[in-house]
Order: sequence, then C-alpha cells, then structure tokens
Amino acid sequence: MKFFIDTANLEQIREAQSLGILDGVTTNPSLMAKEGIVGDENIIQHYKTICEIVDGDVSAEVLSTDYEGMIKEGEELAALHPQIVVKVPVTKDGIKAIKYLSDKGIKTNCTLIFSPGQALLAAKAGATYVSPFIGRLDDNASDGVDLIYKIVDMFGTYGIRTQVLAASIRHTMHIIQCAEAGADVATCPLDAILGLLKHPLTDIGLEKFIADSKKMGK
Ligand code: E4P
Repeated sequence: MKFFIDTANLEQIREAQSLGILDGVTTNPSLMAKEGIVGDENIIQHYKTICEIVDGDVSAEVLSTDYEGMIKEGEELAALHPQIVVKVPVTKDGIKAIKYLSDKGIKTNCTLIFSPGQALLAAKAGATYVSPFIGRLDDNASDGVDLIYKIVDMFGTYGIRTQVLAASIRHTMHIIQCAEAGADVATCPLDAILGLLKHPLTDIGLEKFIADSKKMGK
C-alpha cells in the first residue's frame, strides 16, 4: 500500500518525506485554506513547492464546478508539474471532465466518493485514483472501511486498474484497516502515520537495550 500525506502543510510534508516512506500528497481546498494559501500565484507556487519536496503524485483540486471550468483548470494544473494529479469531484460534470482529462493522458483523482457506484463511474471515465472518504462516512454512522472492501472487490472482479485511494483517514487504526481491505493508497494525516510506530513494548524494550548497552561500556 502506498502512503500519501493528506495536508498542504509544508513542514509536515517535509517531515513525512524525511522518513523515506512517502509516496505522494493529497490536498483539497479546505487544506489549502487552512495554510492561508490565497490567490492564484500563491496557489500555483505552493503546488510547485510540494512537487519539489516529494517524489510522487500530488493531488491538486479544481475549484470550478462546471465541465468547461474543470477541464480548463485541470489542464492548467497538470501543466504545472508532471507529478500533479488533477482532483475532480464525482459529479456529472466531474465525470465528463475526468473522461476528457484522462483521454489527454492527464492523471486524475476522483474525490468525494461515498458509494461503490460513484467509484465505478469514475473508473469507467478513466480516473487514475478514486478517493472514498472513510472518516466522513464513519462520522455519519456508516462503515467507511466497508466501502473500501466493496470497491476493491468490485475493481478486482473486473480487472479495473483505477487505484483505490482511501481518504478522510482519521486515525492510525484506519490505516491498518485500509491495508487489510486492500486499498492501493492511504492518504493520512502525519499523526496517524506516526501512530504506526507506537507500541509500549517497543519503548520498554528499547529502554532495556539502552540500559544493558551501558553494561557493555557504551
Ligand atoms: C483527501 O483527498 C481528502 O480530501 C481528505 O482526506 C478529506 O479528509 P477530511 O474528511 O478529514 O476532510
């Protein structure tokens, strides 16, 4: 499973990259706004900076909601850097835009997926990734991880090559559950990734090794 970081925060992206395990980045308008990125020039520069920090795919979301606007923005975003993946919402215009962009060889990430049917349409349109939002489903008393199982199973049945990018991950256990479900990618907050390292027996074991190493004259 690939690990993407789900943030527009450059410090966190650098920290995740320095771990050597980062495969890409996802952003969305809320994450960009949270970092105070305002205005076309700053937005463009921010995406370019992220692409310079990481080696993998960087999702940049279109802000238009109509087909013409989405394809114009999508082509502009894709022209910024070869690592850019154009993120498009799963609406009627969005599906048409994904078809147009994927036919042009532009990578796309279909976002705001909450059902297997939405994922199927996005895949049919040629999306590189589909992003099911598991945390938001859990927030609404639905089983988010179950949606990952369903989409992975369906794509497996038909040999669909669109990658399942588990999004809206809230905590470390979600990452494990997405891996068990067969997600191709999990996009995670940095804390959730770092949570994978935590185990009290590791801390206790390391303390003992350090104490014993002193007996070895170290
Ligand atoms: C990433 O692609 C999504 O936009 C993001 O994971 C949504 O997360 P949220 O539900 O925590 O806002």
